Amino acid sequence: MYRLIVLSCLLALAQSSARFMQKPMLDGRIVGGEAITIDENPIQISLQRSGSHSCGGSLISERYVLTAAHCAVGVKASSLTIRIGSSFYASGGRKVQVTKTNCHPQYNAATIDYDFCVLELEDWDPTGLTYGFAKLPEAGQDVADGTLLRVTGWGNTQNSYESRSQLRSTIVPKTNQDECSRAYKSYGGVTPRMICAGLKEGGKDACQGDSGGPLMEDDILVGIVSWGYGCAVANYPGVHSRVASVRDWIKSVSGI
Ligand code: ARG
Repeated sequence: MYRLIVLSCLLALAQSSARFMQKPMLDGRIVGGEAITIDENPIQISLQRSGSHSCGGSLISERYVLTAAHCAVGVKASSLTIRIGSSFYASGGRKVQVTKTNCHPQYNAATIDYDFCVLELEDWDPTGLTYGFAKLPEAGQDVADGTLLRVTGWGNTQNSYESRSQLRSTIVPKTNQDECSRAYKSYGGVTPRMICAGLKEGGKDACQGDSGGPLMEDDILVGIVSWGYGCAVANYPGVHSRVASVRDWIKSVSGI
């Protein structure tokens, strides 16, 4: 399954131009985090492709999930389901069919710019489920450097003692945009559709399988796990899609 995820990240990048090094989407885990239960981040869902966990995502209403374009672009909606309301990606909560994928028209697999996708869901029965909807930032709303942000998911933990079957969480400070762009200079830097977070010394980050999942400032969904060099590597912050940069597009496709 990891191989598949790695492969899909690579495939998404296969057409990239030779001007810059390819943006790395390999390797990973919620690294340096702790297990949490779904009530601690009830907007989190597991996105499953042909029944296997492939990415994270966030509920923004009963009908819509926000995830990364690289998790859904070119994939038939009929092969995508989500699991809502469970601390475990493989059991509990409720499995819900995706009926439509709406990925950002400017998504660029080579540069990973505009890595956003809105998924439309079939009707589902909320009875007894623990779930919630993420608040969205206002258009263009920034996050102050150093703000502590929370990232969660069922991604690889790179640590055999830390099971990925249960949802995990870690806290990372928001990185200065210019600093992040300098760190990733050889990959073409970061665009205004990206927001970075990580400790200078590394050790805490999202990783493979966390993509599409939430990066939150309190209960506001400020980012979507997108890419990075390795996971939790010193001086290479995690790069996330910046939700505030496409706030109007989200509204236009979902009404939210
Ligand atoms: N592309 C990866 C995925 O599909 C996410 C990588 C995130 N990396 C990081 N260092 N934050 O799951």
